Amino acid sequence: MVTTLVSALAAFMALGVSVFPVVNAEYDISTRQAAIDSSRTLAYDLMTIYKGNQSGQIPGLLPGPPSSRTTEGVYWWWQGGALMGTMVDYYHYTGDDTYNHVVTEGLLWQAGPNNDYMPPNATAELSNDDQCQWAISAMLAAENGFPNPPKGSAQWLDLANAVYQSQVRRWDQEEKSDVCGGGLRWQVPPTNVGYDYKNSASTGCFFNLASRLARYTGNATYAASAEKAWDWLVAVKLVDATTGAVADGARTSTNCSTVNTAQFSLNAGYILEGSAFLYNYTNGTETWKDRTNTLATAILKTFFKGEVAYEVACEPKHEMCTSDMLMYKGFLHRWLAVVSQLMPTLEATFSSMLQKSAAAAVAQCTGGKSGRECGFYWTEGKYVSTGGTASSGAGEQMDVLAAVLSTLVGGVSAPATANSATGTVSGNPAAGNGTTTTGGGGNATSTAPPSSTSSSAAVYMGASGVLMSALVGLGALAVAA
Ligand SMILES: *[C@@H]1O[C@H](CO)[C@@H](O)[C@H](O)[C@H]1NC(C)=O
Ligand SMILES: *[C@@H]1O[C@H](CO)[C@@H](O)[C@H](O)[C@H]1NC(C)=O
Ligand SMILES: *[C@@H]1O[C@H](CO)[C@@H](O)[C@H](O)[C@H]1NC(C)=O
Ligand SMILES: *[C@@H]1O[C@H](CO)[C@@H](O)[C@H](O)[C@H]1NC(C)=O
Ligand SMILES: *[C@@H]1O[C@H](CO)[C@@H](O)[C@H](O)[C@H]1NC(C)=O
Ligand SMILES: *[C@@H]1O[C@H](CO)[C@@H](O)[C@H](O)[C@H]1NC(C)=O
Ligand SMILES: *[C@@H]1O[C@H](CO)[C@@H](O)[C@H](O)[C@H]1NC(C)=O
Ligand SMILES: *[C@@H]1O[C@H](CO)[C@@H](O)[C@H](O)[C@H]1NC(C)=O
Repeated sequence: MVTTLVSALAAFMALGVSVFPVVNAEYDISTRQAAIDSSRTLAYDLMTIYKGNQSGQIPGLLPGPPSSRTTEGVYWWWQGGALMGTMVDYYHYTGDDTYNHVVTEGLLWQAGPNNDYMPPNATAELSNDDQCQWAISAMLAAENGFPNPPKGSAQWLDLANAVYQSQVRRWDQEEKSDVCGGGLRWQVPPTNVGYDYKNSASTGCFFNLASRLARYTGNATYAASAEKAWDWLVAVKLVDATTGAVADGARTSTNCSTVNTAQFSLNAGYILEGSAFLYNYTNGTETWKDRTNTLATAILKTFFKGEVAYEVACEPKHEMCTSDMLMYKGFLHRWLAVVSQLMPTLEATFSSMLQKSAAAAVAQCTGGKSGRECGFYWTEGKYVSTGGTASSGAGEQMDVLAAVLSTLVGGVSAPATANSATGTVSGNPAAGNGTTTTGGGGNATSTAPPSSTSSSAAVYMGASGVLMSALVGLGALAVAA
């Protein structure tokens, strides 16, 4: 009986649930104005979790990090950067500037002494992808025409460019030493656990950043770096150019010959969006058109279930979704929206998918004391607390906010370029030159567990062998599917 019920439910879920019987009175997205109003409440609830603008707190950071002895929260350094990027988009999509000063303060504070997002405090969790997350939030501010930082501060493009400059130097070094023929390592300081892992998050985010700098500035040097990153990702099979599948990473000990095939939407998203930027930058070449189409097809197939965003590597077993992974759906929604602007032939398919997924997202925001807290398991049609230590809500709130914002894409401008933008930009090529390859001048240490955008943390660390093999197994299934 129980078995029958369970399998009936499973069959129902497999069909994909895109129309939910539950109507959430709190969040309506059926009209543009309703979606903007819903965004305002979602953003308000999200920003109550951010304490960085309160006295005695550190600007830019969500409560954390998890490893701290005085644990205040579950959030890593990079997740503050992800929050800032989401709020940069919030202003772009809604015009509500309530949080702009807080966002500007956070983005500038965490840039650190060399304005390259390597603040000494973050050394123990400094990975290339974490540094790059902050950079793409600054890049987004430039593209969105977000109000400029005060005169005398580094400007948005400078910050993004400084990170590019620091990472391209690391890449060059890797090429010279012929470890895996190039690529970026996960961790920056050689003493951090995970330095021996080259991952698609780090290399993919670099690819994304370089593509965007190319389109924004029109400077072909950045495009050449992006091309090189793409070629490497394909050469070591982190990107399957035929299927569009994106694997997680590979270890230097095998010269990257053995690839960890676990699939995360964050990794695929970095690469899809970067590819769309190059498509647009090259005025629509067949090469980048084909690549973008292939990646887009794969992402829709792998990370949506019944047209609702679904984090395939962790969601089947709820407890496997870490604090990092609980933020991925937001990127997926926000980046697909931008891709639909850069490659308008994808617009119709994407906008229908984003609308349906966002409807499922808001429908399950019925939890907590407020009765409007959001969970993460959107396909299940009801609020399910993520509970445990993985989360206290910033990821879940951010994802739903991003989903709702993505439905508004039809009414906002596409990413600007230096020619179209009104902002002051300089793109000083000497930016980030104060940096070394081993951290921001802080003391590199391996005592703290690496954070990373996650996929890598979970897969690499294999902190529990069970988690690792489960993830790898699921990744393999997703590839086979
Ligand atoms: C922090 O920002 C929030 C908006 O998110 C605002 O309501 C609050 O007053 C700010 N607090 C301080 C101390 O500036
Ligand atoms: C680094 O930590 C110190 C001490 O907690 C704090 O005052 C400072 O604001 C932090 N800097 C950054 C960039 O997080
Ligand atoms: C290591 O891998 C790279 C990239 O696939 C390849 O170009 C290089 O020849 C390999 N080196 C060795 C020693 O196998
Ligand atoms: C795209 O087209 C514009 C306008 O014709 C041209 O200035 C630009 O150089 C082209 N970009 C590339 C990468 O070919
Ligand atoms: C590039 O993006 C712009 C802005 O959305 C769009 O108008 C243009 O058609 C895109 N270019 C191509 C080749 O699709
Ligand atoms: C293009 O960007 C590269 C890398 O930042 C820089 O060295 C070069 O001077 C730039 N070229 C132009 C024409 O601005
Ligand atoms: C970076 O700094 C070094 C040493 O100060 C200098 O030789 C080099 O020219 C600088 N590079 C750039 C791109 O400014
Ligand atoms: C590095 O650690 C040493 C010894 O603990 C300390 O004296 C030094 O100030 C630290 N340097 C930085 C940049 O934090």
